[in-house]
Amino acid sequence: MARPPDRSARTALPTRDRTRDRRMSENADTTLEQNESTTGGAPSPGDRLRKIRLEEVEKRYPGTKQPAVASLTLDVHEGEILVLVGPSGCGKSTTLRLINRMIEPTGGRIFLDDEDVTKANPDKLRRRIGYVIQQIGLFPHQTIAQNIATVPKMLGWDKNRITGRIDELLSVVGLDPDTYRGRYPKELSGGQAQRVGVARALGADPEIMLMDEPFGAIDPITRDRLQNEFLRVQEDLRKTIVFVTHDIDEAIKMGDRIAILGEQSVIRQVDTPERILAFPVDDFVRDFIGEGSTLKGLHFETVDEHVKLEPYPTMHVGDTPTDAAARASEANTDWILLLDEQDHPIRWVAVGDLERGEAVTAESGSEVAAKVSLGATLFEALEQMLISEAAVSPVVRDDGSFYGVVRLTHLNRAIRRARLEAREHYESLEATS
Ligand SMILES: Nc1ncnc2c1ncn2[C@@H]1O[C@H](COP(=O)(O)OP(=O)(O)OP(=O)(O)O)[C@@H](O)[C@H]1O
Ligand SMILES: [Mg+2]
Repeated sequence: MARPPDRSARTALPTRDRTRDRRMSENADTTLEQNESTTGGAPSPGDRLRKIRLEEVEKRYPGTKQPAVASLTLDVHEGEILVLVGPSGCGKSTTLRLINRMIEPTGGRIFLDDEDVTKANPDKLRRRIGYVIQQIGLFPHQTIAQNIATVPKMLGWDKNRITGRIDELLSVVGLDPDTYRGRYPKELSGGQAQRVGVARALGADPEIMLMDEPFGAIDPITRDRLQNEFLRVQEDLRKTIVFVTHDIDEAIKMGDRIAILGEQSVIRQVDTPERILAFPVDDFVRDFIGEGSTLKGLHFETVDEHVKLEPYPTMHVGDTPTDAAARASEANTDWILLLDEQDHPIRWVAVGDLERGEAVTAESGSEVAAKVSLGATLFEALEQMLISEAAVSPVVRDDGSFYGVVRLTHLNRAIRRARLEAREHYESLEATS
């Protein structure tokens, strides 16, 4: 017997959790900001949602020939996660510390809410900005509660308010307050310490969070979990976040936008992850993204939004074989999909079998094992098709009922379209600059 379009699948491979909110990507400002004219003067108030602006910022450490950060101009929008990613030593941590003035710039200006804070009191500034440092940096001789209370105490909050806040934040990062508030950092696992680091940075509910490789020194599984948790927390908090990593996959996962930095924090490309994946502007970016950018891009497209799904001939148990065969031949397919009473696809049945007049039973044909849900990403759809050795897979609604089919050629088309749109975007930018 011929092999059905969807050959029986084994277990699905785990896929990355791409359930995150794509709110920023739809309308993100995706200019190559470093290429824009930076004519000085305060940023114009009409510009949308700008929370932080670095303007031609420079940092030259004493006694060094090259600046660590050379004339960096970059905007961070309110409520977004902007990821700074780049090779070790390129100036990411330096850039982050310039934002809250842990280190002083040697040139340029820094704006918060369009207010020039280059000369503002750094202590005041830091109260508005939470900071998660590269090595977690919990105070070892303080309990978890005391660690989290650092900034609220500095701000003179009363005791009850601080206690309430500690418990609230421990819950936010998924640690039971009763168990953890009295512990010391050495009594935590690495992942738990990272969560406390995040909780501490959120202490006084800052508008801005600076996170320097917050999930750096952690095993991949815990890291993935912490990333997902953090994205969920961010959905509610909508902080403006500058997030540093040297891991492009983390950048793709966490970032509403990504700034890919070269030596001295020179921006090579700043854009949404999907557009960077679809159109790396040069070899540096292409090398940095590495292999598989096309596949990674499939995480950003969903079956319901990005594929024009095809109908497919179906039948139910008890339908006459001749009717069913006619439907299949009308649709010009060799197979017909058998649905149960709830319209869930259950079997692929060969038209040849129907033509021989065999009665259609729930055991006809072979089992449909690979199904793609309507909300699945194209990456998940591809995975299902690879597993089932099929170029086509049924797509089902939330209730499991049949909706249509997705084909490998649909994925081809989606990839080509993403590339074309990204290229056109950059061409139009070039034309207007
Ligand atoms: N206090 C300092 N004095 C002199 N040079 C410094 C100082 N701090 C950092 N540098 C130099 O500035 C450059 C940028 O360092 P930075 O820590 O910002 O890099 P990074 O991108 O965060 O690297 P990593 O990914 O390894 O954390 C490096 O060449 C580093 O050696
Ligand atoms: Mg660093």
